[in-house]
Amino acid sequence: MRVGYLQFCPRFGEVEGNLGRVLSLLGEKEAHLWVLPELFSTGYQFVSRAEVRELAEPVPDGPTTQALTSWAQERGCYIAYGLAELAGEKLYNSAALVGPEGLLFLYRKAHLFYREKEFFTPGDTPFGVVNVKGVPVGLMVCFDHLFPEAARTLALKGAQIIAHPANLVLPGVAQLTMRVRALENRVFTVTANRIGEESRAGERLKFTGQSQIVSPHGEVLASSGEEAEEAVTVEIDPAAALDKDITFLNNLFSDRRVDLYELCGGKGE
Ligand code: ACM
Repeated sequence: MRVGYLQFCPRFGEVEGNLGRVLSLLGEKEAHLWVLPELFSTGYQFVSRAEVRELAEPVPDGPTTQALTSWAQERGCYIAYGLAELAGEKLYNSAALVGPEGLLFLYRKAHLFYREKEFFTPGDTPFGVVNVKGVPVGLMVCFDHLFPEAARTLALKGAQIIAHPANLVLPGVAQLTMRVRALENRVFTVTANRIGEESRAGERLKFTGQSQIVSPHGEVLASSGEEAEEAVTVEIDPAAALDKDITFLNNLFSDRRVDLYELCGGKGE
């Protein structure tokens, strides 16, 4: 299976233009599964809910999802991407996965980062896994990387690949954590980050690029620099993610001591 990411610089507010740029950067390159950045069509740095409301789209009926579905149908491929979702009166920072059969999965970002909390509703969709050409694929978005439960849940639900649309701003952090998420869950991860800067309402954000594809052993199979706009693909064998044995006496999943973790209460009590 060939998986790939597109790293690029969306222009704030230019939804049609950003979609056009994505399709032209992907060009004739081929992958079975593509991953695009978080909020790829709108840009990131909203300054009000009204502004998100203006640019957000319903899924699957909005134009961005419709266009990517048609593109996936023409190519016979799958594409995971982040967008601002309008659902009734609610606004979510969402990721969708579409293929020739239409929308396969919609995930609404659970762990909102920084000012996203002012503009978006926290996600209400469970972490889930869908079949892409017979391979279970899970979705998480950007800051979810710092909450190991997200990737663990996806892995326990059978994900062999985690698609991770991102707009990362903390230098070097997710590039490290996603290697660990891959290693500790024995899954492939595909992080599609954006590049460039946004400077709105007096605050400047620099996006860190360095998108990457990581193997179940934590090896970086492909990565980009901090400035490049590029589509990068790697051929992987997703079955490598099925082997959770660390030694012949240790298994990543069956050795878990769920009796000691006491996770349900949360909040550290
Ligand atoms: C992030 O979650 N966009 C940092």
